[in-house]
Amino acid sequence: MTRHLLRDDDLGPAEQREVLELALRLKADRFALRPLAGPRTVAILFDKPTLRTQLSFTVGVVELGGHPMVVDGKLAQIGVRESVADTARVLGPQVAAVVWRTFGQDRLEQMAALAGVPVVNALTDDFHPCQILADLLTLAERWGGPAALAGRTLAYLGDGGNNMAHSYLLGGATAGMHVRIATPDSRQPAADVLARAQQLAATTGGSVLVTDDAAQAADGADCVATDTWVSMGDDTDEAEAVALFSPFQVDAALLGRAAPGAVVLHCLPAYRGKEITAEVIDGPQSAVFAEAENRLHAQKAVLAWLLERS
Ligand code: CP
Repeated sequence: MTRHLLRDDDLGPAEQREVLELALRLKADRFALRPLAGPRTVAILFDKPTLRTQLSFTVGVVELGGHPMVVDGKLAQIGVRESVADTARVLGPQVAAVVWRTFGQDRLEQMAALAGVPVVNALTDDFHPCQILADLLTLAERWGGPAALAGRTLAYLGDGGNNMAHSYLLGGATAGMHVRIATPDSRQPAADVLARAQQLAATTGGSVLVTDDAAQAADGADCVATDTWVSMGDDTDEAEAVALFSPFQVDAALLGRAAPGAVVLHCLPAYRGKEITAEVIDGPQSAVFAEAENRLHAQKAVLAWLLERS
């Protein structure tokens, strides 16, 4: 059976741990695995802007012995020039895997149904699972390994309905973490994602909390995370976003409520003075550039893991 990473809960708790362990191994020995030797090609498709994702998948595919074919969505026009289904049937026989940043989750699901090779979500409107694996890797490095994630508290402040919030809910609950989302009432996570996270947490010993109280989320947290207030494709006006999300800014006072030494995460790009202050993102508790580097190691592990099982 071909395995995919379309959303965070495509990996069960033991599988997520395996991927994180493999990422640590590949970080320590970058050329230890060459599953793409040939070289075999990985199609890396972008329908939305990127820096980190393009960089880390390109470098990662090369380090796994393969050839990265990066395609700008404006050129391929998937779903416009030809259907997702036809694109999947053209790509599948020629590539080892497909990595796709796109809009609707349904597009990714169609690709996975017909490509016949592993498909990896490089961000959709709904989820960003590669980012959460990099985030969990960053925390695992600091806390003593993947098994040490369970029982820790991660507070995310900002847009509770965006892809990062959804992925923190599913990926964090899978890891057995206590995930707190602080967000305005109008930006609640999708009900089905929240229900799935609660179901996962019930099996892993984690928990899920959604609140409109930033202080409640931050109190005693081991990790404080945020994201841009206006995600790609979100048509929220800048002034409206500032009014809506200002109570959820990660500043020194908010971080002071967290556990001593709490780790600060941001998937980047960041807007200093908006969702996070310069003092915090450039301060001693920030791990954001280690987090950005860990995209490479986490994604190499995902590709190697999926290829081995498909
Ligand atoms: N964090 C992240 O996905 O970065 P890019 O949008 O630059 O790829």
